[in-house]
Amino acid sequence: MIQWYPGHMHKASKAFKEILPHVDVVIEMLDARLPGSSENPMLARLRRDKPCIKLLNKSDLSDPDRLAAWVVELEQHSLVKTLVCSSTDNIHNQLLDLCRAMAPKRQNRSTMVYAMIAGIPNVGKSTLINRLAGRRIAKTGNEAALTRMQQRIEISAELTLIDTPGMLWPNIENEASGYRLAATGAIRDTALELQDVASFIAEFLIEVYPQRLIRRYDIETLPSAEVELLELIAHQRGCLVSGGRVDLEKVSRLLISEFRAGELGGMCLETPAGFAAEWEQVAVIRAQKAAAKEARKSRRRNK
Ligand code: G4P
Repeated sequence: MIQWYPGHMHKASKAFKEILPHVDVVIEMLDARLPGSSENPMLARLRRDKPCIKLLNKSDLSDPDRLAAWVVELEQHSLVKTLVCSSTDNIHNQLLDLCRAMAPKRQNRSTMVYAMIAGIPNVGKSTLINRLAGRRIAKTGNEAALTRMQQRIEISAELTLIDTPGMLWPNIENEASGYRLAATGAIRDTALELQDVASFIAEFLIEVYPQRLIRRYDIETLPSAEVELLELIAHQRGCLVSGGRVDLEKVSRLLISEFRAGELGGMCLETPAGFAAEWEQVAVIRAQKAAAKEARKSRRRNK
């Protein structure tokens, strides 16, 4: 399980609750390649009935068909609207209109809209804020953010963003989400084994986008096992060590880097149905762990 600054979570959620009454809407930035895994599970609980815009960023790197399914899924929740974008889009007016539509007391164009913006690292939050503001806003590190907890950025005469850099999630219970986040670069490369991440990507590509693999790496017969695929790519791209053996680390780096850069085309790593099924599994494991803990306690009591 990957821990996110666990000691700070209480402080961060306390600060979030304090700011919440002063904002009209919460903007949660998501990675359009992983709309489920890049959601902060804490945010939904903390924001309660505050309207929320899910900004699906990096759409240029995503798959339009899968992304459309996520838009439908996310908007099933009342008080949630989505906006699909990428760093080259100018979304100021669209975002503002959506904020006003969701915050009835801000319908009047002469009033300032206050929006809290949150998102996991690497989702493109700084890039978006800089673009909206038309100037470079200094990035607040997570540590610094916890001392100040928020940064107010006046984007225009109509929109103020309140950035909350400390809002991360406490842990990733869904193992597949951890791999997807590592695959896209949202979590440090040192958090998981490089070769495991590359194998995860290879397995996903064989299953979901086989034709892209065939085209990109000029493959005649697509292997069914991820290790074989890595070996095949290694031979194609000369990722070999002396004696002609495969350099697994080098080929893993190559696949991860091409995948992140979108060289294999736009991709969405998860579907709403698949993601929901994974969480059902997580719930089963959670229940099993709780039962085992209870049984241990009861044995101790009976000793
Ligand atoms: P953060 O504040 O949420 O942590 O993310 P940040 O804006 O720093 O963006 C993380 C990386 O994602 C940056 O690339 C940025 O250029 C890229 N990015 C942001 N939005 C988009 C988008 O819509 N599409 C694509 N394709 N990329 C996006 P980097 O390589 O880490 O930095 P840089 O060399 O581009 O500055």
